[in-house]
Amino acid sequence: MPLINLFPLTILKDKIELKNNEKDLMINEIRLMKKNSKNLDYKNPSFSWTGDTQGYEFLHKNKKFSELFDQIKVKIKEYLKYIEIDNNLIDLFIQRSWATISEGKEIVSKHRHFQSHISFAYYLKKAENDSNIIIFDEGYKNEIIPGIFRSTTAFKKGVIKKQNHLNTTNAMVNVEEDEIVIFPSKTVHSTQQNPNNRERISISADIVCISKDSELLEMTMPPINEWTKM
Ligand SMILES: [Fe+2]
Repeated sequence: MPLINLFPLTILKDKIELKNNEKDLMINEIRLMKKNSKNLDYKNPSFSWTGDTQGYEFLHKNKKFSELFDQIKVKIKEYLKYIEIDNNLIDLFIQRSWATISEGKEIVSKHRHFQSHISFAYYLKKAENDSNIIIFDEGYKNEIIPGIFRSTTAFKKGVIKKQNHLNTTNAMVNVEEDEIVIFPSKTVHSTQQNPNNRERISISADIVCISKDSELLEMTMPPINEWTKM
């Protein structure tokens, strides 16, 4: 085809290898967090349980999760390699990490992680038909008529004959248990909306990149030890 497609969004999808007993320990710990939720009034019945809104936003400090986070650190560095960011020149910090449990039709609606640079979702427990992740585009680069690729009437009337990878504004990434997806925190995403989840459990975290040396460098956060609390 005589087409040139430019400027992709790149998501790393890979497998995390953990023993079943390590996974069971984490699953039980997360179930306990849900049981001891500290903010249940906040949870909308149609939304998934999210640990960061219930008092459990630092899973990376919990020893039961340390092997998982060790492996994830390697994957994050791999991801940086693909986009040619030199991880020898930056420090990576996990600032927040939490579990999400989806039962039945519960969903996580469209959102992005505003306060960080890199985010991920790791699927600790997922049946084949549990929700996948949906990624939303915001550039609409091929949308020559503003709004048309997002218009229900344009599809209904047949102005857009069918959705394909050149005109879609959202895409589902199929994920399996043990897989991780790593993506820019600014990427808008949600869970797939229809499936009937059977206690799907994922773990997410937000990571920031801080320069080791900020001299003559504008576009990263300077080292934290140079910051002064006001
Ligand atoms: Fe998210």
